Amino acid sequence: MPSSSCLSQLFILALVLSTMAVSRVVCADTTTPTASSSRETLSLDREWRFHLGDILRTSFKANNDEAEGGGKGGAAWGAAAPGFDDKTWRVLDLPHDWVVEQPYDSTANRAQGYRQRGIGWYRRGFKLDPSDRGKHLELQFDGVATHCTVWFNGVPVHRNWNGYTSFDIDITTLAKYGDATNTIAVRVDAADMEGWWYEGGGIYRHTWLVKRSPVHIVTDGVYANPVKGANGKWTIPFEATLQNSDRASAHTRVQVQVIDPQGNKVAAVDATTMVDPWGLAVVKLSIPVATPQLWSLEQPALYTVKTQVASDGMSDEVSTTCGFRTIRFDVKDGFFLNDQRVMLQGVCNHQDHAGVGVAVPDALLELRLRKLKEMGTNAYRASHHPPSKELVDLCDRMGILVMDENRHFNDSAEYLDQLRWLIRRDRNHPSVILWSLFNEENALQGTEQGREMTRHMVATIKALDVTRPVTAAMNYGQLLGDVVNPNSSAHELDVVGVNYQVDKYDRIRAAFPDKPIVSTEDTSQVMTRGTYITDWGKLALASYDEKYPGWASSSHSAWAAIVKQPSFAGGFAWTGFDYRGEPSPFGWPAVSSYFGCLDLCGFPKTSFYIRQALWVQTKPILTLVPHWNWEGKEGRPIRVMAITNADRVALFLNGKLIGEKPVDKFAMVSWDVAYEPGRLEAVAKMGSAEVTRCFVETTGKPVQIQLTPDRNTINADGDDATVFTVSALDAQGRAVPLAQNKVSFAIEGAGKIIGVGNGDPTSHEPDKFSPASPAAGKVEGAPWSRSLFNGLAQVVVQSKRQAGELKLSAVSDGLEPATAVVKTTPSPARAAVR
Ligand code: GAL
Repeated sequence: MPSSSCLSQLFILALVLSTMAVSRVVCADTTTPTASSSRETLSLDREWRFHLGDILRTSFKANNDEAEGGGKGGAAWGAAAPGFDDKTWRVLDLPHDWVVEQPYDSTANRAQGYRQRGIGWYRRGFKLDPSDRGKHLELQFDGVATHCTVWFNGVPVHRNWNGYTSFDIDITTLAKYGDATNTIAVRVDAADMEGWWYEGGGIYRHTWLVKRSPVHIVTDGVYANPVKGANGKWTIPFEATLQNSDRASAHTRVQVQVIDPQGNKVAAVDATTMVDPWGLAVVKLSIPVATPQLWSLEQPALYTVKTQVASDGMSDEVSTTCGFRTIRFDVKDGFFLNDQRVMLQGVCNHQDHAGVGVAVPDALLELRLRKLKEMGTNAYRASHHPPSKELVDLCDRMGILVMDENRHFNDSAEYLDQLRWLIRRDRNHPSVILWSLFNEENALQGTEQGREMTRHMVATIKALDVTRPVTAAMNYGQLLGDVVNPNSSAHELDVVGVNYQVDKYDRIRAAFPDKPIVSTEDTSQVMTRGTYITDWGKLALASYDEKYPGWASSSHSAWAAIVKQPSFAGGFAWTGFDYRGEPSPFGWPAVSSYFGCLDLCGFPKTSFYIRQALWVQTKPILTLVPHWNWEGKEGRPIRVMAITNADRVALFLNGKLIGEKPVDKFAMVSWDVAYEPGRLEAVAKMGSAEVTRCFVETTGKPVQIQLTPDRNTINADGDDATVFTVSALDAQGRAVPLAQNKVSFAIEGAGKIIGVGNGDPTSHEPDKFSPASPAAGKVEGAPWSRSLFNGLAQVVVQSKRQAGELKLSAVSDGLEPATAVVKTTPSPARAAVR
């Protein structure tokens, strides 16, 4: 670690460029920032009023005077008006997804999961202290599904046509102070859809009020993405965009510090610039950092770049996380991270989870990524839309690579702005290694028009970030017959993305001899968790990795095809988790997808274990499927599969050797075993040496419920969340794999239940109990209940702002009840608007 005295020798080449304002050149020193930042980032998530359905402006036609008045600034009509009476509306906290509260409905859209979507309104008031006068004020919405209009104090201030982009609204000139209430009104139109998967409806990501000094750094205004030069030396090409909402031009000092993962300051640089009233200034610097710790999958070392701007005793400060790593997609040898070949063991994912829809608490994002890592996943494709910023932060922290995808293939001005937003928000994240422009643009990806649009959009990305390659997930269009398609969008991409088309891998490789290739999407195997006999009548698909649509492959054959292509960077399997909607190969009454390696709750399916055996090399993996409860099938053959990364497996039934076989490293190893109750045990070997063993056992009937929390302690901040796994045990305490008992739940103490699920793609039981939910009252017994599905269900619990403990209880007819306790530890709640 360099001492601060030698820091001055480390720098500084500094350069200030200006876009819209004059800015001046830079001096280099190592001064520590002095003025304290006045920035406040306050959560706006609490206590919104919500109304499901539209509020029509009935007076508009009838009363001309009102029409005239409503056309003036600040005089919006109806529910957008500040004075609108919303007292009868439901009070709720964000994130919120109203679609997941709706009952299933066979007439609703299949792709979106057979739930009515519709229109909803949200309103919230807040007050500002008179001392806030003069500050720059901004509302931030991280994600609203799907289209929305926002009014602030009766003024329409924003329209957003993208359920996956954040938007920021400058309310500096519209805000009121003191006793006056500021009113936000949001009309959300989820009747419209942007995808063919469950998208939810409502303000489903976080909302914020940001107060900053008049001279401040704009949102996503710091670019600090370290690069390694040809000379082997690291620098951070730094850029900050400043704005000034004051009346006078401001002479502004910009101080930047780089802090290593242990908290040591390793670089500092200082510049000055002028920022004109309501002008922007861009400050560019180059910050050398000697011998940084590298960000890697095993040790995701993160640095913090602190940027402080100060003028006239006021200051604004932003901390930006970044990482030092090199990435390279090679034409012949695939992907390299820090000059080490890394095979992308990726999965595609949408965003919804059991119980909560798309309003997924941040803690559940972590849980989901943890499960993917356990499967051996090292790469996450945010398909087919930008993920939340919390997800990308977690990937940075957990060492997961991200293929970051744009939603709309559209190069008109509004949509280019959405693309720019994505790049600006995510270009500092070391986890992000690929920008993805689109998914399967069937009508355009192989046409001249599509190619031109791709060229335009790639240039838009490159104007903001040249350090990451651009790809697109193309399911055809690379080829014309057997040879290269001259109009393919792929010509404009850095990395050719291939969705499916396994039979064309060789031809696509030959058609693009100068471009790296990645399988942006493959697999699409379908299976029902815990089910081992396909029953088309019950919409149940056996978990043996055998079923997939015509364009797709099984898990193991998809991976086998990818590893046969040494130049491929790896692949992204469809999908990590099941998601609502797209219940292929079925329709009603199936309501959620069958594609996941894990179900909607995150319970593993057979494909999870197959991926684990294919992807995890650091420890022996062995799993046996199916369960061993086949009453009535005595003496009949049951297909048994041992899933392992070992060489050989010996299988024993009740101590008797059934056989020992070599393992095909893709297809694994199977036997038909005549059923006899008892213990089926597998021993995995490398050569002749045992490396691990496992068993499945015939259980008795369920006698008792069991509740198992994922974490024993959560933060008492009102945001943290965890899940309880619900299972049924037999008299010997063994989990009963086929239990389907209906279980009711109650919670006491420092937490609340926010959803329930069981991973059954055909279940029509409600995910939510809410007084305002149409599903309410349809649940028998306690308000919260759910049936076990193949032995498992899940309860999602969120903390209250109360340290102590929460106690979840579960009852079920004829079974011993269960309780489980999770501690909630004192933890500061997010700073919030009151
Ligand atoms: C792909 C598509 C995905 C999903 C998948 C199902 O073609 O990109 O969104 O629909 O098929 O197999």
